[in-house]
Amino acid sequence: MEKILIVDDDMYVVESLKFALKDKYDLCLAYNSKAALEHYKNSEIAVTVLDVKFGKDNGLELYYKIRELNPQAIVIVTTPYGNVNYDNFKYISEAIRSGIFFYLTEPIDFKELELLIAKGVEMYNLYKQINYLNAEAKKNYETYGIIAESASMKNVLKTVEKVKNIDSNVLITGESGTGKGIIARIIHEQGNRKNERINTVNCAAIPKDLLESELFGYKKGAFTGAVGDKKGYFELSNKGTLFLDEIGDMDISLQGKLLHAIQEKTITPLGSEEPIEVDVRIITATNRDISSLVNEGKFREDLFYRLNVINIFLPPLRERREDIPYLVEYFIYKYSRKLSKNISKVDNDFIKTLEGYDFKGNVRELENLIERAIALSDNNILTKKDIMNYINKGYESNEHIGKKLIPIFVGETLEMIEKKVIKETYRICNYNQKDTAELLGITDRTIRNKFKKYNYDERA
Ligand SMILES: Nc1ncnc2c1ncn2[C@@H]1O[C@H](COP(=O)(O)OP(=O)(O)OP(=O)(O)O)[C@@H](O)[C@H]1O
Ligand SMILES: [Mg+2]
Repeated sequence: MEKILIVDDDMYVVESLKFALKDKYDLCLAYNSKAALEHYKNSEIAVTVLDVKFGKDNGLELYYKIRELNPQAIVIVTTPYGNVNYDNFKYISEAIRSGIFFYLTEPIDFKELELLIAKGVEMYNLYKQINYLNAEAKKNYETYGIIAESASMKNVLKTVEKVKNIDSNVLITGESGTGKGIIARIIHEQGNRKNERINTVNCAAIPKDLLESELFGYKKGAFTGAVGDKKGYFELSNKGTLFLDEIGDMDISLQGKLLHAIQEKTITPLGSEEPIEVDVRIITATNRDISSLVNEGKFREDLFYRLNVINIFLPPLRERREDIPYLVEYFIYKYSRKLSKNISKVDNDFIKTLEGYDFKGNVRELENLIERAIALSDNNILTKKDIMNYINKGYESNEHIGKKLIPIFVGETLEMIEKKVIKETYRICNYNQKDTAELLGITDRTIRNKFKKYNYDERA
């Protein structure tokens, strides 16, 4: 039974309320402010019914004290009819603005009051539910530093818990911007290697020959330019974790050496004869479908099985829309602090619009959108208007690409530049040829011709 606190010194009112409510609620009675506050501090009160004037005490002052203890307190104020002079009226309307649930003038209509209390209790239970959900969200956030409200993301965290302290290789898959990088970091930071280093190597960003020496290191004189010994990331990650990002883009000629290093737990730097033992946890991630790369002969099957002992799949944001409101709140908090803006609220339409939007760039796209809206907003509340421009442009706008830059060197031919742009756009569009054409503003036919011209096949 929910607790209702009645603060009044009029015995007639108290007795009538007792009679009307005693079977439905657990009633607490107080005849002065001190007793009322004691009740409030010591038990969970759902609704308070408060006389604006009882004895020497002022009900509205008590109301403000209660609100200080609990800003969500639901308080119904009763005021004697004749007592609503201009000053009182001002005082009461101020209280209403500050959040009084309702006020009734005396003589009290007990049926109406009963109905109001029922409504108040309903609201109290709603608050309770919201607070519980927020606390749950906070728990995930406090432990892992990420938002994971949807069932699928909660499952991801369950898997993280299971694998964090074992050394089995983990392959994280999912579209661009779904949080693969962040999950790799969490596995390391929560696990028993947390006091050692995690090194990240992006296999797509480094040319093949350089990648080999980055991973395995080299000895002085191993090749022209090797003026000294250099440790590779395997050695640098000894006892810690090596996160190989975009593993699907690793050249097949390097994959054998990686497999060897993982199986034998030893590496041999370029130009050396001496194998070095390494104890490294391997986490990999890709937004490519590795099993089809295997079928196409671009990824070694044996390496795939080695890496994919445990698979963590991060679903696209459009398949876990429950996360959207929580992510919005989180990014608003993050960016209003970062950009020194005082934005604390969003209107309902803002959230609804985002919940209905298909984020092709996933969480990263949502994050960029919020940052931009906050940077440009003049108010302390974000409304649908702040994002409509972006949403309407949809995929035509390329702001969601994640502010990804590619290097272009003076002296490169236009053809070389075009090739790079197409390749990177293709990657960002999760290897979808149609989306790539759309983003580049060319027709499907043109993109097919370009692919042919540059000798790309579907997954170049
Ligand atoms: N659940 C989440 N809660 C909070 N922030 C998140 C969450 N998921 C992703 N992010 C944020 O979204 C951005 C993109 O995440 P991340 O870089 O991990 O994605 P990714 O899958 O590795 O993308 P890519 O394939 O392009 O490398 C980051 O800024 C990250 O902090
Ligand atoms: Mg990443």
